[in-house]
Amino acid sequence: MKIGVLCSGGDAPGMNPCLRAIVRAGVDRGDEIVGIMHGYTGLLKEEFFCDSDKNDVMGKRSVSGLSNLGGTILHSSRCKQFTTPDGVKLGAEILDKHQFDALIPIGGNGTLTGALELSNVWKGQIIGLPGTIDNDLLGTDFTIGFATAVHTVTEAADKLHDTAGSHDMMFIVEVMGRHCGDIALYSAIAAGAEIVCVPEIPTDVAHINKHLYEIKKSGKTSVMIIVTEGDDFGGAMKLQQSLIEADCPYDSRVVILGHIQRGGIPVPADRILAASLGCGAVDALHDGETGKMVGQIHGRLVRTPFAEILTEHRRITPEMLELLSIVAS
Ligand code: F6P
Repeated sequence: MKIGVLCSGGDAPGMNPCLRAIVRAGVDRGDEIVGIMHGYTGLLKEEFFCDSDKNDVMGKRSVSGLSNLGGTILHSSRCKQFTTPDGVKLGAEILDKHQFDALIPIGGNGTLTGALELSNVWKGQIIGLPGTIDNDLLGTDFTIGFATAVHTVTEAADKLHDTAGSHDMMFIVEVMGRHCGDIALYSAIAAGAEIVCVPEIPTDVAHINKHLYEIKKSGKTSVMIIVTEGDDFGGAMKLQQSLIEADCPYDSRVVILGHIQRGGIPVPADRILAASLGCGAVDALHDGETGKMVGQIHGRLVRTPFAEILTEHRRITPEMLELLSIVAS
């Protein structure tokens, strides 16, 4: 079987170990694995990965050293052309021209939407994998890259805590996540932040300010609020401004962590998830599956149709919110 692999959308730590697993599992089964560069953009431009010997079929040694490498050696992109029917049709023609039997796209919502559209016009098999720091996909408990992003945010928050403690002040830290507040929530629990603002729950400044007065009265000299970029109120800067106007009891600073959350050495949890899902994608193709994403739920691999994955974004779980409210009190 000739299988193309591409990474699309925002890069996520773990994409490289995932490619490593796909190549090694595929070669074991006699497959030819070809890396497609720059996501769907590279597909439309017919850009393929070549190893140092100029081979475009990836051998087991071509993925050596990838288990602890951040980013993606296949490079990634957000491809506007692939959001149009003509772009998708062209992608299908190019896959046929190069005699691909199957495709494994690794990415988030946009990537899997492209995969769904492609599956409607291309006769080959498509198995998608969840690769995004946002953890905003249905069909899996965790996406590849999420655990590393939480680790990165937690490390940053630990450092900010030192300064917050030294100066009796409040940090308002903005983290990534357009639709799901998991990065904020998990990091808040891990780092000991007091408050989170997430896209799933409307932000009420008066309520936060009242809570800050209570915290102050209870003796807390420093505070941390973690705000998701996709929060309905408009992000950390706006929240700080409104809290100042509401006579907030703490002096505050805003830190926007930005793209450092997407980089870095993948943590073991991401490497293991990536290995498991990569092998799971090859297994699914050999079982004749198509039009599905392989995810992991309660420790088991599951294959869910793209159409089901894409009905809505994954939301934070009330249990984790409850956990934060207990440990942050
Ligand atoms: O989807 C991953 C993500 O990092 C989001 O958290 C963020 O909103 C977005 O990508 C940023 O995208 P870009 O790098 O294209 O600005």
